[in-house]
Amino acid sequence: MRKSQKSHSAAGGSILRVAIAILAAGKGTRLKSKHPKVLHEVGGKPLLAHVIAAATEVVPTQDIYAIIGHEAERVRKAVAHTGVNFVLQTEQRGTGHALMVCREALAPYDVVLVLSGDAPLIKAETIARLRDFHAAKKAAMTLLSAQLHDPSGYGRVIRKSPKSDEVKAIVEEKAATATQKKMGEINSGFYAFSVPILFRYIDRLRTDNHHGEFYLTDMASVLQKAKQRVVAIVASDPHEILGSNTRAELVDLDHRLRLAKSLQLIDNGVTIFYPHTCVIDSGVEVGADTVIEPFVQLLGNTRVGSDCRIRSYSVIRNTVIGDRVSVLPGCVMDDSEVKAEAIVGPYSRLRPGSEIGEGAHLGNFVETKKTRLGKGSKANHLTYLGDTEVGEGVNVGAGTITCNYDGVSKHKTVIEDGVFVGSDTILIAPVRVGKGSYIAAASCITDDVPADSLAIARTQQTVKEGWAKEKREARAKDAKAK
Ligand code: UD1
Ligand code: MG
Repeated sequence: MRKSQKSHSAAGGSILRVAIAILAAGKGTRLKSKHPKVLHEVGGKPLLAHVIAAATEVVPTQDIYAIIGHEAERVRKAVAHTGVNFVLQTEQRGTGHALMVCREALAPYDVVLVLSGDAPLIKAETIARLRDFHAAKKAAMTLLSAQLHDPSGYGRVIRKSPKSDEVKAIVEEKAATATQKKMGEINSGFYAFSVPILFRYIDRLRTDNHHGEFYLTDMASVLQKAKQRVVAIVASDPHEILGSNTRAELVDLDHRLRLAKSLQLIDNGVTIFYPHTCVIDSGVEVGADTVIEPFVQLLGNTRVGSDCRIRSYSVIRNTVIGDRVSVLPGCVMDDSEVKAEAIVGPYSRLRPGSEIGEGAHLGNFVETKKTRLGKGSKANHLTYLGDTEVGEGVNVGAGTITCNYDGVSKHKTVIEDGVFVGSDTILIAPVRVGKGSYIAAASCITDDVPADSLAIARTQQTVKEGWAKEKREARAKDAKAK
């Protein structure tokens, strides 16, 4: 059991059955998008995936309920691999309504922690703190609040008195008076509720507000009027609760996550010049003494070794890079592997299934796909290698092309160890070039080449001496006659 899961009984005395409900059914109208809000990505992952990741550090996955509605199937599919439960809110009638539809699912629990699916920076420690504070205060409702420099857009927390733990109401910005709007303590959209008390009173919510919705925030005044205890705890890091109602907020959250990731790598011994220009996903690993130049993207499950240099404008996804590798400017790599001491680029494109061997060189405008380039082999200029097996110590000349596709199926090219492929060679697959062979430049190789031989497959050169001179003289004569 993880640390934050352990303490849930400590403050309250008895063991509490705790569930987490994540609000994720909304449309996200303010994003002006055809995609559901919680699937918009920040830091390389959907908003909802971040919140689920934090939740799973606090309670077991089987106690997490994502409330989905708008584009429910898409949302379900995107996060199904996490193993959380789903509750369908067919009509999105507000954050209060989202919990009304969970009555049955939550019945077996004592406490529900409600998280906002659009606030991805929340940390497990903060959720656990909210849970423990709620238990210690024996509250009916506990809300996480924050002091924000710019509180606009958020609901404001109205305490019974400035120093009291207890809350009288939450006022949504649209309903707030000028004085209330100036209050810096905002509602984060994260709550803890006693499940029996929540469902005893939830039907008292009304829709007489700006949006005609059931606001979960109104539970504060409903419960307070019913003499139930409503308290607030202030988040220690106000940025953790930031939500993403607008594109500008999404961009801000993405920036914060990326910068945090870069700073974590820098802390671990990686040099990143101009980190605010680099896009590095949270799952990426980079070894010490690697240098990352400006405008580099390292995405997905990319792993970069130690002492590498990744030069500017390279976009590298799901690729494993060994130690002491140089990636020169402008490379694009997907689902590939580059082994130690290789040099790749500038402008190399590694499509899925490329494996560049130890110390191998791949140069400018070289494209590979499902291709293995052996140790120390070189393909330095203007080449396409598809479905190709290249042995060790091979030199692939400029402009070499494997013709791997006949319009219906893909075929394999094998170039064995030590082969020299002359420039501008065309290899029509399936074809095999035996160990140590030479292929003359500009050959079109259609048949297998035995080991240690020379293959020349081009027409014999014909030279017609004096031909050009005669042609010129004839033209000059014609011009004079006219
Ligand atoms: C909400 C709070 C506001 C708080 C802010 C913090 C209400 C009425 N207001 O406002 O006090 O300061 O969060 O970020 O709750 N959702 C559903 N079903 C619905 C409607 C919404 O699941 O019917 C989900 C949304 O997908 C979203 C979350 O609930 O993930 C919050 O909804 P949103 O519309 O973003 O509320 P805010 O206006 O941000
Ligand atoms: Mg919101």
